[in-house]
Amino acid sequence: SDSLGKFLSVPLPQKKTLYNSFYKLSRTVYIKSTDLWEIVEGLRGGFSNVQEPQKQEGYMLKRRKWPMKGWHKRYFFLDKGILKYGKCSTDIEKGKLHGCVDVGLSVMAIKKKTKCIDLDAEENIYHLKIKSQELFDEWVSKLRHHRLYRQNEIAMYPNDKSFYYPHYPSPSSPAMTESASIRKVDLWTTQQANCMQEIKLFCFVFCLSVLFSFFIAQKVVSVLPDLMSPGSVDESSVICRRRSLLPSPSPNNSTISLWNILRNNIGKDLSKVAMPVQLNEPLNTLQRLCEELEYSELLDRAASTQDPFERMVYIATFVVSGYASSYYRTGGKPFNPVLGETYECDRPDKGFRFIAEQVSHHPPISACHADSKNFVFWQDVRCKNKFWGKSMEIVPVGTTHVTLPEFGDHYEWNKVTSCIHNILSGQRWIEHYGEISIRNSSSDICQCKITFVKAKYWNSSVNEVEGAITDQKGKVIHKLFGKWHEAVFCGDPPSATCIWRANAIPVNHEQYYGFTKFAIELNELDSSLKLLPPTDTRLRVDQRLLEEGNLEAADEQKQRIEQLQRERRRVLEESNTTHQPKFFRRSKDDTWVSNNTYWELRKDPGFAQIDFPTLW
Ligand SMILES: *[C@@H]1O[C@H](CO)[C@@H](O)[C@H](O)[C@H]1NC(C)=O
Ligand SMILES: *[C@@H]1O[C@H](CO)[C@@H](O)[C@H](O)[C@H]1NC(C)=O
Ligand SMILES: *[C@@H]1O[C@H](CO)[C@@H](O)[C@H](O)[C@H]1NC(C)=O
Ligand SMILES: *[C@@H]1O[C@H](CO)[C@@H](O)[C@H](O)[C@H]1NC(C)=O
Ligand SMILES: *[C@@H]1O[C@H](CO)[C@@H](O)[C@H](O)[C@H]1NC(C)=O
Ligand SMILES: *[C@@H]1O[C@H](CO)[C@@H](O)[C@H](O)[C@H]1NC(C)=O
Repeated sequence: SDSLGKFLSVPLPQKKTLYNSFYKLSRTVYIKSTDLWEIVEGLRGGFSNVQEPQKQEGYMLKRRKWPMKGWHKRYFFLDKGILKYGKCSTDIEKGKLHGCVDVGLSVMAIKKKTKCIDLDAEENIYHLKIKSQELFDEWVSKLRHHRLYRQNEIAMYPNDKSFYYPHYPSPSSPAMTESASIRKVDLWTTQQANCMQEIKLFCFVFCLSVLFSFFIAQKVVSVLPDLMSPGSVDESSVICRRRSLLPSPSPNNSTISLWNILRNNIGKDLSKVAMPVQLNEPLNTLQRLCEELEYSELLDRAASTQDPFERMVYIATFVVSGYASSYYRTGGKPFNPVLGETYECDRPDKGFRFIAEQVSHHPPISACHADSKNFVFWQDVRCKNKFWGKSMEIVPVGTTHVTLPEFGDHYEWNKVTSCIHNILSGQRWIEHYGEISIRNSSSDICQCKITFVKAKYWNSSVNEVEGAITDQKGKVIHKLFGKWHEAVFCGDPPSATCIWRANAIPVNHEQYYGFTKFAIELNELDSSLKLLPPTDTRLRVDQRLLEEGNLEAADEQKQRIEQLQRERRRVLEESNTTHQPKFFRRSKDDTWVSNNTYWELRKDPGFAQIDFPTLW
């Protein structure tokens, strides 16, 4: 059963029902339309006599790992079910590989109309395309054959681990760590160890002589930069007790079969697919946008930094910090806001006010705006969520903006692709990959590129980020490195400075959706309750019921709310009108910006005096 589970990638039920599910799942899900993705069938069960396939090689187009960078030509080599690729055939001969997947362990989907092949091998998703029909057919048929051959081999030798990537050194071998980034982290840790030596030495010296204390203190600061990480800007010191626990732990006995929901939606945008509430976490997308401000103190730091290159260091670190909370959040998806749903988050303790609104339904677009005395932050986001058989790719479209009025800075950046691996079985984990480019739209004296490094084989180097802040001529002024779920450092080890470190995660987070303290606070009903518009997410019943652990009622309410939304849509269509968002307007460049009326209307005349649609 283990080996079947491994290559079917489904949570296997009780042994007695195993045969049935295996039979059901291994049948081809044929969708007889050239528009749709077809999942290629796997081995039908038991062992069969699959002849060793012939090698296949040649160029195919491979989609680059970050969005909107198009396709590039790569040379592929398929042998006994293992697909390797590199720049050209000589590179492959020399062993200079860019990657390697086990076709037997991947979910394979093809789209005839666009001549695309997708291989989801959990660690990597390959999106391939072939221009010529003839070559496409040849590759598809070869891949099918190799896949069956490989699955047969795995079924026969299920416990032979060395077998999985026969063309790669075993995971324990240090030869694996070829990439420069891995070496850098190794270097970083050894140098941190060296730092400890230095610190011990300095402490000793310190005891000997007070005279040198000033010098020593400086030295210690430079080797122990974490001590210097930013304290929160908390001038108003508003004492406000917020909850530190959700009312109910996450349900952990879901019997929903994700595969049944997902298998007919391979390659489709999942934001349009209705999902049962059991798959949700008790937060919605509007609140998730607010979570990007968890470390808003980095923006406050930027706003009090004179040097533009140093300001960029804080901005870049802020951008990375926005991904930290995703590390523990692979368990559930946020609720999709209904059209017209709003959310406010007033945090005098952090010095900002945030509002968000769902401004469009098809495509779903969420817009948000936050301001403080130091900065303004806004963005509109639409995410395409695609499921590829084992993993879910989340491709966000849109630009995030921050202005620092003090300096006339206006920063803009894109987001990277996120991928949740092992959706159906095994340990889920999330990865972000791609490149973020931050620029100051009103001047080019300083720019920044941050790379979220795609995990290499095995997991020696997960979650790494690297960045460089350059001047007009492209000269590197500051270097950044670290891990998006842990910390960001500036400079070169050992004198690198810790710019940011993620807050500790609550001890019992596993039972509570993996929420950080900040996330726990987002849906709390506090004293502002009476001032909220009736469209505020906090008042949304299905989400509240899920938070309270009442799954059945939550599911019922979710369906009711979705039905209400469909009815409102129909009314709009019949009256030939389009939906008007309340607090955001479309700007000239087609982005959604706040029309700055929310907080004024909240104060006077108050939302109780204003008409809102009934969303729930
Ligand atoms: C389910 O949750 C309960 C309490 O919330 C916990 O004791 C139990 O170990 C959990 N079961 C699993 C399989 O995680
Ligand atoms: C799942 O958990 C809920 C709440 O803990 C409980 O009421 C329900 O009976 C459980 N269902 C199953 C199938 O164990
Ligand atoms: C951004 O542009 C403004 C206006 O030209 C300039 O004053 C500021 O120094 C720039 N900041 C950075 C970080 O490039
Ligand atoms: C990844 O690393 C962690 C900790 O280093 C280890 O426990 C885990 O087994 C590794 N997983 C794989 C797939 O190598
Ligand atoms: C709906 O609006 C469009 C454009 O505003 C117009 O061309 C069309 O005639 C309208 N249809 C009806 C039935 O009013
Ligand atoms: C803000 O937008 C709302 C809804 O579109 C509109 O009613 C209001 O007049 C706008 N206010 C301003 C100042 O543009």
